[in-house]
Amino acid sequence: MQENRVKKLIKSRVSLAPMAGITDYVLRSLIRKYSKTCLITTEMISSEFLAQTLQGRSGTEILKRDLNHSPISYQISGHKPHLMNLAAKTLSPTADMIDINMGCPVNKVVKGQDGCALMKNPNLASDLVKAVKDGTDKPVSVKFRLGYNTMNYVEFGQKMQEAGAEFITIHARTRSQMYSGKANWALVKSLKENVDIPVFVNGDITSIESAVEALEKSKADGVAIGRGALGDPTLLYRIERYLSNGEKLSEPDITEKMALLKLHLDEEIKLRGEITGIKFVRKFYPYYLSGFKNAKQLRTKLVVEEDYNTIIKTLNSLTSSPVL
Ligand SMILES: Cc1cc2nc3c(=O)[nH]c(=O)nc-3n(C[C@H](O)[C@H](O)[C@H](O)COP(=O)(O)O)c2cc1C
Repeated sequence: MQENRVKKLIKSRVSLAPMAGITDYVLRSLIRKYSKTCLITTEMISSEFLAQTLQGRSGTEILKRDLNHSPISYQISGHKPHLMNLAAKTLSPTADMIDINMGCPVNKVVKGQDGCALMKNPNLASDLVKAVKDGTDKPVSVKFRLGYNTMNYVEFGQKMQEAGAEFITIHARTRSQMYSGKANWALVKSLKENVDIPVFVNGDITSIESAVEALEKSKADGVAIGRGALGDPTLLYRIERYLSNGEKLSEPDITEKMALLKLHLDEEIKLRGEITGIKFVRKFYPYYLSGFKNAKQLRTKLVVEEDYNTIIKTLNSLTSSPVL
């Protein structure tokens, strides 16, 4: 019964993986401009932070969503059941699903017992799922890795399912691997065979071809895309389209990419104001410009540029037709 609830919510086999400082309201909207059905996920929201600053307030930038963002999952992090319960209660009216971060490998996060450290403490992880479920009537999902040092992802996934998790995203690396090596999609198959809830495979899926290979090797229900969407917000839609009807849409060309970058910049400025918006977008330049002639020189110029008109002029210099 629980599985049907998530299957009803998620019609697509593609989702946007959460990325702190990246999958903000603007990027989520850009993804949705193309894919109308993929699951999109917010950046991780700390339950401690929510409890301290957001309790009872709405309209805050991190929580912002549009109606057409559904299905949207809000990801929370933490290790204290009462704070995770409070976070679930706070986000429940806005979210279609609540995801718990059990995969973040960053030192600062795992030192505090959050993120992937929870894979070393399955009983606490299980209590967190239960606490979050007590705070929301929306489906609760978990995102984790293959393990911390040792690979315990099959037993861990089963335990999360028993606790009430209704959906899993698995990044096919261990915590000790951080982001090195290659994600091992084939290992995910044993998780898929041992749980009844939907499983999406994640890690290094950056093209239609790699999505197909990851699905074949893992037998997962779908793919979660993180870094592959950087500089190409059409990727999720293109994968979705291929999986549904075999049509291979081509990557955006340079003119389309510059138009997308300009839109990204304009929307961040609308959200954050000109100075902060311009600074925020700097991290995206390498991705949008990757593979283009003179990309390095342009990037070096753009990441320090503060004037909006000069940025647009620089982007226009890359294409024959101006970026409107
Ligand atoms: C900059 C950055 C921020 C991330 N932030 C989060 C996060 O907030 N929560 C989370 O579960 N994973 C986070 N991740 C991990 C991604 O969701 C994903 O699991 C990982 O990047 C592997 O997938 P990919 O190869 O498709 O990027 C982050 C990754 C990056 C690169």
